[in-house]
Amino acid sequence: MATQTENQPWTIQRLLTWTAEYFQRYQQDTPRLDAEVLLAEALGVPRIQLYARFNDVPGESQLSKFRDWVKRHAAGEPVAYLVGYREFYSLRFAVTPDVLIPRPETEQLVVEVVDAWKQAPWSPPFVVDVGTGSGCIAVAIAKQMPEMHCLAVDVSPAALEVAKRNALTLGVSERIKFLESDLLDQVPPDQKIPVIVSNPPYVGNIEEGTLNENVRKYEPELALFGGTSGHELTAKLIEQAAERLTPGGLLILETSPMLAAKTHGCITANPAFQSCRIKKDLAKLDRVVIARKRA
Ligand SMILES: C[S@@+](CC[C@H](N)C(=O)[O-])C[C@H]1O[C@@H](n2cnc3c(N)ncnc32)[C@H](O)[C@@H]1O
Repeated sequence: MATQTENQPWTIQRLLTWTAEYFQRYQQDTPRLDAEVLLAEALGVPRIQLYARFNDVPGESQLSKFRDWVKRHAAGEPVAYLVGYREFYSLRFAVTPDVLIPRPETEQLVVEVVDAWKQAPWSPPFVVDVGTGSGCIAVAIAKQMPEMHCLAVDVSPAALEVAKRNALTLGVSERIKFLESDLLDQVPPDQKIPVIVSNPPYVGNIEEGTLNENVRKYEPELALFGGTSGHELTAKLIEQAAERLTPGGLLILETSPMLAAKTHGCITANPAFQSCRIKKDLAKLDRVVIARKRA
């Protein structure tokens, strides 16, 4: 960051303008937003308050924290890992490098579960979230539906710790159980499962070179890669869902636009399922696959 000139103090407004331009040069996707989130966190105030305090000059310790984050973000470190949180479904989720940073497109999985419940509530009011990561899907579902209970499953114990913390902070820990498990392997055989929702890892090992460098470098491999083509883990989950869902149960999966047709094909080839459709995300890309098991 340029040194302070005598005539121009580093006000909040000036810091934001300078930093947003700096991030733009480093081709960050959302330079102004990133600058605001980092500065608000360094100052310990809500982002909206920056606008009421444009002419304030932050103290030296706040500035030094901000400068450090600015350098690290320009070098690729995601803002969410620097500040330790990310908004998802208008809720603040703690994130660490042990969990995927929740993506806006994943919010659609929550919408689909809520809509399905409104159309035809199921019994027991229970959902399994496979590959829960930060817990964003299970926690957002529990927040939206006060009657719902969830089982949040992940193969990563470190991710489960983050998810538990989020459930506690967001006040839904009494309705979410956490389980370390490879997909549904450890889910008790007598557990009735009317709905499975999952954003499984779906990047192919063969695609690794095409992945955004910052994603590859900072986000957990376990959360990204779903096998050689990316479809392998999803295919295994589809098989397990075919066996474990209760009759008429729902499987709601996030996938990549490149794998949506393959995922759809895998489900329609399985006689346990009665129907399957692909839904688009807000960017009009095939993103969610919804399947119903035969009744
Ligand atoms: C793409 S991330 C999704 C995280 C979170 N649900 C979200 O949408 O932000 C996939 C998650 O699946 C977990 N995972 C990977 N392989 C798994 C497996 N075989 N069984 C259960 N969870 C697995 C990873 O640890 C990671 O937390």
